Amino acid sequence: SFDRLRHVESMAQLPSGAGRISHLNAVILGESLASEENDLVFPSHDFSRQALVSSPEQYRKMYESSIEDPAGFWSEIASQFYWNNKWDPEVYSENIDVRKGTVKFEWFKGGSTNISYNALDRNIEAGNGGKVAIYWEGNEPGDDGQLTYAELLEKVCQLANYLKHVGVRKGDAVVIYLPMLVELPIAMLACARIGAVHSVVFAGFSAEALAQRIIDCKPKVVITCNAVRRGSKAIRLKEIVDSALIESVKNGVSVGLCLTFENKSAMKREDSKWQEGRDVWWQDVVPQFPIKCSVEWVDAEDPLFLLYTSGSTGKPKGVLHTTGGYMVYSAATFKYAFDYKPSDIYWCTADCGWITGHSYVTYGPLLNGATVVIFEGAPNYPDSGRCWDIVDKYKVTIFYTAPTLVRSLMRESDEYVTRYHRKSLRVLGSVGEPINPSAWRWFYNVVGDSRCPISDTWWQTETGGFMITPLPGAWPQKPGSATFPFFGIEPVIVDEKGNEIEGECSGYLCIKKSWPGAFRTLYGDHERYETTYFKPFAGYYFSGDGCRRDKDGYFWLTGRVDDVINVSGHRIGTAEVESALVSHPQCAEAAVVGVEHEIKGQGIYAFVTLVEGIPYSEELRKSLVLAVRNQIGAFAAPDKIHWAPGLPKTRSGKIMRRILRKIASGQLDELGDTSTLADPSVVDQLIALRDC
Ligand code: WT7
Repeated sequence: SFDRLRHVESMAQLPSGAGRISHLNAVILGESLASEENDLVFPSHDFSRQALVSSPEQYRKMYESSIEDPAGFWSEIASQFYWNNKWDPEVYSENIDVRKGTVKFEWFKGGSTNISYNALDRNIEAGNGGKVAIYWEGNEPGDDGQLTYAELLEKVCQLANYLKHVGVRKGDAVVIYLPMLVELPIAMLACARIGAVHSVVFAGFSAEALAQRIIDCKPKVVITCNAVRRGSKAIRLKEIVDSALIESVKNGVSVGLCLTFENKSAMKREDSKWQEGRDVWWQDVVPQFPIKCSVEWVDAEDPLFLLYTSGSTGKPKGVLHTTGGYMVYSAATFKYAFDYKPSDIYWCTADCGWITGHSYVTYGPLLNGATVVIFEGAPNYPDSGRCWDIVDKYKVTIFYTAPTLVRSLMRESDEYVTRYHRKSLRVLGSVGEPINPSAWRWFYNVVGDSRCPISDTWWQTETGGFMITPLPGAWPQKPGSATFPFFGIEPVIVDEKGNEIEGECSGYLCIKKSWPGAFRTLYGDHERYETTYFKPFAGYYFSGDGCRRDKDGYFWLTGRVDDVINVSGHRIGTAEVESALVSHPQCAEAAVVGVEHEIKGQGIYAFVTLVEGIPYSEELRKSLVLAVRNQIGAFAAPDKIHWAPGLPKTRSGKIMRRILRKIASGQLDELGDTSTLADPSVVDQLIALRDC
């Protein structure tokens, strides 16, 4: 099955030199230049020589051993960590096939460990206590701070001791609603230290969305801060939490404690509303607790965190990750996909409110003893050069971001980039959505001066870590392709009927076997876990993504095939937006589709049918958008409201989204057969109202 890769191996042995995008190589190979599939970008010899995996051959050997002997492969990596108790001889067990009973994955079962111990204490014991763990850069240039591994451990222990003091025990949930302050990773690590299950909610979610998550996981404590500055605005996060807590009480969930960090640069504490008995200032209590805190050893399969994500119904899914496998997988993927070396300074622009911030801001890098930069502000404040200013300031070597940021910076003058040195950079990374080849090239040529390989990492909240990703020194890249599977991952492409298809093909992307970082269930709903991911194509995990494999075996992700929209790398369920819209008293019905958007990748396009007799107005349009902001968050606000006297439905009442997508994207000559609609004339009405 490696013939395809062998072909690439032979290409990789061509003399190449450092790689401007190498049309030349394709020419040498006698290939046509017509398609991006032939655009090979080789790592330089200098890069490959120093890389952890430095040739296709080396990758192939490691990959083969990971597939032939997963137990041996993963237990060797796991042995680099501290286990208080070694796992059972059986390294893993799995049932991925719903037809054979309950779907269940277990890794390192019977072993006990602690991820906070492995990320902090273990690195300190190895002599790295004085190494910087976190550089923190605030919204205002010049507002910054840093913590060594030893200092970080002390802060984590103080909070862990406080949480124990207020009664948080192993297995209890803690909701964290914080911006990118150091207190966010500190809170995650403190929970992990005592075996509590953290559920970080991105601080851009609205009160209602936060309440929904609180009601689902019933935390003992909510950790937040009074306010945050974004660009030139201050957002009062504590007030959002206050409303969420009132909403939760109405639904029978009462949280006894709201620990609030005073973010002085954003707002003075006197300006906060306060509920005595429930609300406590972090600074008043946490620093009084001891700087040492013993570790709660947990089973490898004990839960580490819950992270809610969108699916194809209105109710967000609580993705549950456990401890041992996630630890091993987030650490190993970080190390290999970024070719991590101890001298690296690593910056990932993601927020800890998303999975990227869990696996590749907090756990993966700290487990490797890395120095991490975290940034609280906005990438275009005070101007579009801010990222490269930060890169130069901290001498960042690995820079990991999302295509949407690349596209938004690419629209500005290159001068914002080129006025900075960026000489420290050696590896770039991309995540969240397919990166279009032109954004890839700008990132590669302008930001990376044509020197730095780009790791375009495909993965998901559910997968815990990278699944398909370049290993930067191992083989040539193709702009826009996530390249090949990570160790231990067997991706397959299946057709509509669930049959695997070989060779060059397109279809649905599935995974064949379990892997250590896989999520274990949806919190409180194992049935939904099986129905959503394991039933569509029995025998496989179904990703929800479409995928193409080219003649060289490279994987090209083509986007979601379900009712999920990817806006700026954020996953939003069309059903969630629809339910927010129909909650508006004047909205009778809504249908939401994704539409191509220059910066965000996809934009949200909403067709809205009003209650009989209500006239269209600009004011109403605004209040519909506001309903979505209030129910989900500003990032989910529709880009377009399209008035719809009626929606195209089949005779059985099913909305034909295919037609709506075509209308939304203006492909009016590709509407296809509309004769099966209950009322074909609605299509003409919708077209007539396009620009209203
Ligand atoms: C969905 C998962 C995983 C971190 C951020 C998003 C899309 C993610 C890529 C990529 C093409 C990508 C997929 C996937 N996606 N990375 N490199 N190339 N598509 O996590 O919110 O769970 O979303 O993001 O569609 O299914 P998420």
